[in-house]
Amino acid sequence: MTDLTMKKPSAEARFWDKVADRYAQKPVADEASYRTKLWLTQTNFAPETKILEFGCGTGSTALEHAPHVRHVLATDISERMIEIARAKQRSTGVDNVTFSRADIADFEAPDGSFDAILGLNVLHLLKDRNGIIDKVHRMLTPGGLFVTSTACLADTMAWFGLFAPAGRLAGLIPHVEMIKARELERDIETRGFKIDHRWKPDKGVSLFLIARRKR
Ligand SMILES: C[S@@+](CC[C@H](N)C(=O)[O-])C[C@H]1O[C@@H](n2cnc3c(N)ncnc32)[C@H](O)[C@@H]1O
Repeated sequence: MTDLTMKKPSAEARFWDKVADRYAQKPVADEASYRTKLWLTQTNFAPETKILEFGCGTGSTALEHAPHVRHVLATDISERMIEIARAKQRSTGVDNVTFSRADIADFEAPDGSFDAILGLNVLHLLKDRNGIIDKVHRMLTPGGLFVTSTACLADTMAWFGLFAPAGRLAGLIPHVEMIKARELERDIETRGFKIDHRWKPDKGVSLFLIARRKR
């Protein structure tokens, strides 16, 4: 499987293509929190679990989860991110992950295709977050999991919203939505999910949620 949506790269895709190599070199900001999130997620997996991860970046998380599940379809809007992810996969020999380029806004799969869907550090980058949450709900099996980690900048970094348009114009930052944690939880809960686990690591702006699709 190569490119799932086959569209001309959007401005967002071009932004992430441009920064992908640098992103790949950057160490994880808070390794202990990252490991805790992996572990919390994996406690919900079984050998038959089928995962979709959208906005997978350079693929590290998909490759970490792969040994615990049947299959991971890992997608990203950026061709370069996907190229780097595939190179990592070749060096690890993991064979149950498929990396494909796709904008989650255009991505389609039959209802109930996945047992778990992961959107890590990506929801705040989406213009139609709630449309995507509805889509995730539809693509999950009843009882399936939606795992997210989202920068909730409106809670503690409201000033960022003032500078973002200039940064965006200069091509220095991608589109970023200013989200409040409580607002995000409500958006998810009102779209047919029950939140099983919420965690905001100290110091961070990211809200980690494990939400379960109600039956
Ligand atoms: C901040 S990075 C996070 C990458 C990875 N999930 C992680 O936690 O390290 C955001 C990623 O989302 C991807 N992305 C942005 N908008 C997207 C969209 N509409 N559909 C799919 N991927 C998208 C970007 O290309 C980028 O790789």
